[in-house]
Amino acid sequence: MQKKISAPGKIEPATPDDLDHILSIEKESSPNPWKRSYFEDELTGRLSTILVFKGLEEERIKGFIIFRKIDDIVEINNIAVCIRERRKGIAESLLSFLKTFAARESVTEIFLEVRSQNSGAVKLYEKFGFKFSGIRKGYYNNPKDDAWMFRLDIN
Ligand SMILES: CC(C)(COP(=O)(O)OP(=O)(O)OC[C@H]1O[C@@H](n2cnc3c(N)ncnc32)[C@H](O)[C@@H]1OP(=O)(O)O)[C@@H](O)C(=O)NCCC(=O)NCCS
Repeated sequence: MQKKISAPGKIEPATPDDLDHILSIEKESSPNPWKRSYFEDELTGRLSTILVFKGLEEERIKGFIIFRKIDDIVEINNIAVCIRERRKGIAESLLSFLKTFAARESVTEIFLEVRSQNSGAVKLYEKFGFKFSGIRKGYYNNPKDDAWMFRLDIN
Protein backbone atom coordinates (compact mmCIF):
# COMPACT_ATOMS: atom_id res chain seq x y z
CA MET A 1 0.00 0.00 0.00
CA GLN A 2 1.26 3.45 -0.87
CA LYS A 3 2.13 5.58 2.16
CA LYS A 4 0.05 8.69 2.76
CA ILE A 5 1.86 11.92 1.84
CA SER A 6 1.69 14.55 4.57
CA ALA A 7 -0.06 17.82 3.81
CA PRO A 8 2.48 20.35 2.51
CA GLY A 9 2.98 23.22 4.90
CA LYS A 10 5.22 25.07 7.29
CA ILE A 11 5.38 25.04 11.08
CA GLU A 12 6.23 28.20 12.97
CA PRO A 13 5.66 29.89 16.35
CA ALA A 14 2.26 31.56 16.67
CA THR A 15 1.87 35.33 16.86
CA PRO A 16 -1.02 37.38 18.33
CA ASP A 17 -2.37 37.73 14.76
CA ASP A 18 -2.90 33.95 14.66
CA LEU A 19 -5.24 33.87 17.68
CA ASP A 20 -8.54 34.23 15.76
CA HIS A 21 -7.74 31.24 13.53
CA ILE A 22 -6.49 29.19 16.48
CA LEU A 23 -9.69 29.95 18.41
CA SER A 24 -11.93 28.89 15.54
CA ILE A 25 -10.10 25.54 15.30
CA GLU A 26 -10.35 25.12 19.08
CA LYS A 27 -14.11 25.79 19.03
CA GLU A 28 -14.78 23.08 16.45
CA SER A 29 -12.38 20.63 18.13
CA SER A 30 -13.13 20.54 21.84
CA PRO A 31 -16.24 19.87 23.98
CA ASN A 32 -14.85 22.52 26.37
CA PRO A 33 -12.96 25.00 24.22
CA TRP A 34 -10.24 27.05 25.85
CA LYS A 35 -11.04 30.75 26.23
CA ARG A 36 -9.04 33.38 24.34
CA SER A 37 -7.32 34.41 27.59
CA TYR A 38 -5.86 30.87 27.99
CA PHE A 39 -4.28 31.14 24.55
CA GLU A 40 -3.01 34.65 25.32
CA ASP A 41 -1.35 33.32 28.48
CA GLU A 42 0.29 30.47 26.54
CA LEU A 43 1.46 32.93 23.88
CA THR A 44 3.26 35.11 26.42
CA GLY A 45 4.23 32.48 29.01
CA ARG A 46 7.98 32.01 29.55
CA LEU A 47 7.74 28.22 29.48
CA SER A 48 5.04 27.78 26.83
CA THR A 49 5.10 27.63 23.06
CA ILE A 50 2.31 27.60 20.50
CA LEU A 51 3.29 26.23 17.09
CA VAL A 52 1.00 26.59 14.10
CA PHE A 53 0.84 24.59 10.88
CA LYS A 54 0.12 26.76 7.83
CA GLY A 55 -0.42 25.77 4.23
CA LEU A 56 2.31 26.78 1.78
CA GLU A 57 -0.06 28.64 -0.52
CA GLU A 58 -2.56 30.23 1.83
CA GLU A 59 -1.53 31.55 5.21
CA ARG A 60 -4.58 30.09 6.95
CA ILE A 61 -3.75 28.01 9.98
CA LYS A 62 -4.68 24.34 9.69
CA GLY A 63 -3.56 23.11 13.08
CA PHE A 64 -1.67 23.98 16.25
CA ILE A 65 0.12 22.43 19.19
CA ILE A 66 0.75 23.96 22.60
CA PHE A 67 3.42 22.68 24.94
CA ARG A 68 5.41 23.68 27.99
CA LYS A 69 9.06 22.85 28.54
CA ILE A 70 10.07 22.63 32.17
CA ASP A 71 13.71 21.63 32.59
CA ASP A 72 14.13 18.38 30.65
CA ILE A 73 10.41 17.56 30.38
CA VAL A 74 7.87 18.71 27.81
CA GLU A 75 4.12 18.59 28.44
CA ILE A 76 1.69 18.82 25.52
CA ASN A 77 -1.29 20.89 26.67
CA ASN A 78 -3.32 21.07 23.47
CA ILE A 79 -3.23 19.93 19.86
CA ALA A 80 -5.95 20.35 17.23
CA VAL A 81 -6.39 20.33 13.46
CA CYS A 82 -9.29 22.00 11.65
CA ILE A 83 -11.97 19.49 10.69
CA ARG A 84 -11.63 19.69 6.91
CA GLU A 85 -7.84 19.14 7.10
CA ARG A 86 -7.85 16.02 9.28
CA ARG A 87 -6.25 12.69 8.34
CA LYS A 88 -3.65 14.40 6.17
CA GLY A 89 -0.77 13.98 8.60
CA ILE A 90 -0.83 17.48 10.09
CA ALA A 91 -0.92 16.36 13.73
CA GLU A 92 1.91 13.89 13.02
CA SER A 93 3.92 16.71 11.44
CA LEU A 94 3.42 18.87 14.53
CA LEU A 95 4.48 16.01 16.82
CA SER A 96 7.55 15.28 14.66
CA PHE A 97 8.55 18.93 14.81
CA LEU A 98 8.16 18.90 18.60
CA LYS A 99 10.16 15.67 18.93
CA THR A 100 13.05 17.14 16.92
CA PHE A 101 12.97 20.28 19.07
CA ALA A 102 12.88 18.16 22.24
CA ALA A 103 15.89 16.08 21.17
CA ARG A 104 17.86 19.23 20.36
CA GLU A 105 17.01 20.74 23.76
CA SER A 106 18.08 17.59 25.68
CA VAL A 107 14.51 16.84 26.74
CA THR A 108 14.17 13.32 28.14
CA GLU A 109 10.39 12.87 28.06
CA ILE A 110 7.27 14.26 26.43
CA PHE A 111 4.04 13.58 28.25
CA LEU A 112 0.34 14.37 27.86
CA GLU A 113 -3.15 13.55 29.09
CA VAL A 114 -6.07 12.66 26.84
CA ARG A 115 -9.73 11.83 27.39
CA SER A 116 -10.13 8.03 27.47
CA GLN A 117 -13.06 8.39 25.02
CA ASN A 118 -10.99 10.33 22.47
CA SER A 119 -10.09 7.28 20.41
CA GLY A 120 -8.78 9.29 17.42
CA ALA A 121 -6.24 11.14 19.56
CA VAL A 122 -5.29 7.95 21.43
CA LYS A 123 -4.58 6.23 18.09
CA LEU A 124 -2.51 9.23 16.97
CA TYR A 125 -0.31 9.08 20.09
CA GLU A 126 0.08 5.30 19.95
CA LYS A 127 1.00 5.42 16.26
CA PHE A 128 3.58 8.08 17.08
CA GLY A 129 5.19 5.85 19.74
CA PHE A 130 3.74 7.25 22.97
CA LYS A 131 3.34 4.61 25.69
CA PHE A 132 0.37 4.43 28.06
CA SER A 133 1.58 5.39 31.54
CA GLY A 134 -1.48 5.62 33.79
CA ILE A 135 -5.03 6.78 34.48
CA ARG A 136 -6.42 9.76 36.35
CA LYS A 137 -9.95 8.66 37.31
CA GLY A 138 -12.70 11.22 36.65
CA TYR A 139 -10.17 13.90 35.72
CA TYR A 140 -12.36 15.57 33.06
CA ASN A 141 -15.82 17.15 33.35
CA ASN A 142 -18.52 17.91 30.73
CA PRO A 143 -18.66 15.06 29.97
CA LYS A 144 -17.08 13.23 32.88
CA ASP A 145 -14.17 11.11 31.71
CA ASP A 146 -10.90 9.57 32.86
CA ALA A 147 -7.59 10.98 31.70
CA TRP A 148 -5.20 8.54 30.12
CA MET A 149 -1.57 9.53 30.49
CA PHE A 150 0.98 8.86 27.77
CA ARG A 151 4.72 9.42 27.60
CA LEU A 152 7.37 9.36 24.93
CA ASP A 153 10.97 8.87 25.94
CA ILE A 154 13.45 10.94 23.97
CA ASN A 155 16.93 9.51 23.53
C1 LIG B 1 -6.59 14.22 17.11
C2 LIG B 1 -6.26 15.18 15.94
C3 LIG B 1 -5.36 16.29 16.49
C4 LIG B 1 -5.54 14.38 14.83
O1 LIG B 1 -5.15 15.29 13.81
P1 LIG B 1 -4.88 14.81 12.29
O2 LIG B 1 -4.06 15.84 11.63
O3 LIG B 1 -6.17 14.45 11.67
O4 LIG B 1 -4.02 13.48 12.53
P2 LIG B 1 -3.05 12.79 11.46
O5 LIG B 1 -3.62 12.95 10.09
O6 LIG B 1 -1.66 13.29 11.68
O7 LIG B 1 -3.20 11.26 11.90
C5 LIG B 1 -2.09 10.44 12.16
C6 LIG B 1 -2.58 9.08 12.60
O8 LIG B 1 -3.31 9.19 13.85
C7 LIG B 1 -4.41 8.27 13.84
N1 LIG B 1 -5.66 9.03 13.82
C8 LIG B 1 -5.81 10.38 13.76
N2 LIG B 1 -7.11 10.72 13.83
C9 LIG B 1 -7.82 9.56 13.91
C10 LIG B 1 -9.21 9.25 14.01
N3 LIG B 1 -10.16 10.20 14.03
N4 LIG B 1 -9.56 7.95 14.10
C11 LIG B 1 -8.65 6.97 14.08
N5 LIG B 1 -7.30 7.20 13.99
C12 LIG B 1 -6.89 8.48 13.91
C13 LIG B 1 -4.27 7.45 12.57
O9 LIG B 1 -3.44 6.34 12.88
C14 LIG B 1 -3.54 8.42 11.66
O10 LIG B 1 -2.82 7.78 10.62
P3 LIG B 1 -3.59 7.35 9.27
O11 LIG B 1 -4.41 8.55 8.84
O12 LIG B 1 -2.46 7.04 8.34
O13 LIG B 1 -4.44 6.18 9.63
C15 LIG B 1 -7.56 15.78 15.32
O14 LIG B 1 -8.49 14.74 15.06
C16 LIG B 1 -8.24 16.80 16.20
O15 LIG B 1 -7.95 17.99 16.12
N6 LIG B 1 -9.15 16.33 17.08
C17 LIG B 1 -9.87 17.26 17.97
C18 LIG B 1 -8.94 17.79 19.05
C19 LIG B 1 -8.34 16.68 19.89
O16 LIG B 1 -8.98 15.67 20.17
N7 LIG B 1 -7.08 16.89 20.31
C20 LIG B 1 -6.38 15.95 21.14
C21 LIG B 1 -6.51 16.38 22.55
S1 LIG B 1 -5.51 15.36 23.63
